[in-house]
Amino acid sequence: MRSDTQFDHNAPEFIANPYPTYAQLRAEDPVHHSDRYGGYYVLTRYEDVRSALLNWQLFSSGRPGVTSIPTSVKRDFVEIPLEVDPPEHYPYRQLVSRFFTRNAVTKIEPGIRDIAVDLLEPMCAAGGGDVVQEFALPFVARVLALFLDVPQEESVRWVRWCKEIFHGRLSDRALADRASREMIEFVDDLVDRRRREPGDDLFSALATATHQGRPLTRAELHGYGVLMLNAGQETTVNGIGGSFAYLAEHPEDRKRLREEPELLPAAVEEFLRFISPIQLLGRTTTEDATLHGCPIPADSTVAMCYAAANRDESVFAEPDEVRIDRRPNPHLAFGAGPHTCLGTHLARAEVRIVLEEALARIPQMRIDPDAELEYTPHGDLRGFWKLPLRMS
Ligand code: HEM
Repeated sequence: MRSDTQFDHNAPEFIANPYPTYAQLRAEDPVHHSDRYGGYYVLTRYEDVRSALLNWQLFSSGRPGVTSIPTSVKRDFVEIPLEVDPPEHYPYRQLVSRFFTRNAVTKIEPGIRDIAVDLLEPMCAAGGGDVVQEFALPFVARVLALFLDVPQEESVRWVRWCKEIFHGRLSDRALADRASREMIEFVDDLVDRRRREPGDDLFSALATATHQGRPLTRAELHGYGVLMLNAGQETTVNGIGGSFAYLAEHPEDRKRLREEPELLPAAVEEFLRFISPIQLLGRTTTEDATLHGCPIPADSTVAMCYAAANRDESVFAEPDEVRIDRRPNPHLAFGAGPHTCLGTHLARAEVRIVLEEALARIPQMRIDPDAELEYTPHGDLRGFWKLPLRMS
């Protein structure tokens, strides 16, 4: 049964706590339809989301912008490989996948740790600060610069673009469009520099690559470049902010992680399940379909709600509780199927290293009772935007 509503994942009251709504949709309306943003369906049950992510023939990623509902920034390119369906998807993904392996990330771990320490120490010395604005945003951008072998100073602009694109896309399109244009100019410039002086880094590989026997086109380079600069920023910031928020309020788990550091990798997985930095992304149906007796016409936008799937009680015992030693933990925070996050090793290493260094030097932390917390203004990528903590 199709039930039209004004379900809106960007509504502030929803963003403040989406989980009761997700639970209700899972139980009563697993193929929910909302009228907002031109109309979209929302899948919330674990098995439905997982099966749809694997069924790319029916639930296509191959339409620019549908991955983010609603899309704001007008573009003449698709993000590669995110918005390309198999079989074309595979060679595109292969072209950059060697830069994302566990080995490649292990090599830059000392550098990631240095950046974490460099940013954590002044905050500790000051007795605390805003973990998102003063730590996570610059940290993630500087790690990306390290990963892409670009001078650290470049990351200052990336933080601004990240804020302007992600925040402007709902409230100030001109700002988001301008930041997007600047980002494309940066990609053009970096590709040109790498063509002149290629190294062993991701943009050099793109600049010198051949695809189907020809060099990549400008549109393809923009599609890769913009995704590489965007995909790992707000997502990882949300993961770090949410982990700090949890640990600030759970001294017993801080203590346990300090005493049993071998639990950290499992704790990181659990934080990512619990937080779901990307709450939902869209697909487009390629033909008429029916799910749980509900018709979904061809060409419909369907949101894959990873966050609701990650709290599905039929898969996760006590899903609204954080269990830092939860195993197995088959969460969908990184997606599933052909588009499973390419940055999993990098993201996991970033969150783990940050928590290792924070736990080692901050015995006490709590959310500043005098300060206001703020969430991101959109609910597809959801997280803290202001998270002031007191540390001692
Ligand atoms: C905690 C942090 C992160 C989370 C939760 C996350 C989550 C996701 C998810 C859910 C997808 C699948 C999208 C879909 O199904 O359409 C994805 C794809 C992707 N992610 Fe991440 N991501 C994170 C960090 C990163 C980082 C650090 C990078 C790289 C710098 C990255 C690069 C990518 C790329 C390139 C794709 C597209 C893969 C493809 O289409 O084949 N991500 N990510």
